[in-house]
Amino acid sequence: MKAKIRMGVVGLGGISNVHIQGILRSVDAELVAICDTNAQLLQATGDKYGIPAQRRFSEFAELIGADFVDAVSICTPNMLHFPIAMEAVRQKKPFCLEKPIALNAKEAEQLRDACRTANVPNMIGFSYRYKPAVRYARSLVQEGQLGRIYHVYGQYLQSWAKPDVPMSWRFSKAMSGSGALGDLGSHVIDLTRFIVGDIKRVTGNAGILVGARRNPGSDTQSTVDVDDYVHFLATIESDISGVFSISRFAYGRGNYQRLEIYGDKGALVYSLEADDSLEVCIGSVYEQSHQFVEVPIPARFHQDQMQSFFDLVRGVDDGLNATLDDGVFNQKALDAIEESFECGKWIEID
Ligand SMILES: NC(=O)c1ccc[n+]([C@@H]2O[C@H](COP(=O)([O-])OP(=O)(O)OC[C@H]3O[C@@H](n4cnc5c(N)ncnc54)[C@H](O)[C@@H]3O)[C@@H](O)[C@H]2O)c1
Repeated sequence: MKAKIRMGVVGLGGISNVHIQGILRSVDAELVAICDTNAQLLQATGDKYGIPAQRRFSEFAELIGADFVDAVSICTPNMLHFPIAMEAVRQKKPFCLEKPIALNAKEAEQLRDACRTANVPNMIGFSYRYKPAVRYARSLVQEGQLGRIYHVYGQYLQSWAKPDVPMSWRFSKAMSGSGALGDLGSHVIDLTRFIVGDIKRVTGNAGILVGARRNPGSDTQSTVDVDDYVHFLATIESDISGVFSISRFAYGRGNYQRLEIYGDKGALVYSLEADDSLEVCIGSVYEQSHQFVEVPIPARFHQDQMQSFFDLVRGVDDGLNATLDDGVFNQKALDAIEESFECGKWIEID
């Protein structure tokens, strides 16, 4: 039996739960070390998972360098993705890095190039690639079941950023790179690429709806300098027209993610909030009656995200995981959308 992959997790906030649960679920990995600069959270998480005190770190480089850590999950705010992933590259430790991979395309490319040279296995947390409905949708498009694709309509809508929500890294350009765009838009860009193809050019409109927020535990305020919403048009591959809506201010929406894809032989609708479902309208009988029918998802499209990372570390890759190459493309698209809404023009993505 192969030894388990000994995992360290850096950043113990919301998304770390997905990584930690994935580690605990797998027979191929174990959680051996954790790191966070929040001492209380570090202690609570260490106690919860039985991590000994000497394996709880406040400095990420110490965790990454520890000889009892084989690979790391990087779950920190965006501005720390680049330095922490670069440290993992330097120490030749495989890493599963959260999205977006960097603050801008220049950083993203630098990270990808260093990682390529050092040949370190890596995976990016574009988690919706692991939704069975998304994988089935991709397969149907690739089989040609929809024929020639004409349109993609994508939405990713949440409502949590109400005016009384305090300042955090998610509202600061220096800490997050962008707002709803990088947080939510990055997922929709990756899904479009995964299912249909590359986005080639974009033009967008964005806005800040709450310009200043209360600093936590204080009477002072800080300025918000990232987008609260982004609406953009895109050309996908050579001639597919895409329309995308991304917002943190969509009243009543929790985690509303939806992609509608229309071709000349069929159409499909993927919806995350409707329990990761897929509706299709394929063939003239359904077309004439305007019927979209929810289809059961075959078992072969079920795949666990963290297990995919462990497989990747062991050299087994189904080709469907996002790596730094995908992260770089994604970051270029984010930068291009930002440039477009700043200058009011279409921007080509090279
Ligand atoms: N894949 C997804 O669906 C998904 C969902 C949510 C968040 N994310 C991504 O995950 C990342 C984290 O998001 P979150 O919601 O968990 O944020 P969060 O604010 O809840 O947690 C971040 C944690 O990092 C810790 N931290 C800050 N500086 C640190 C340092 N120097 N060393 C170690 N720890 C440090 C913070 O104390 C905090 O506990 C972001 O990049 C975000 O975009 C991805």
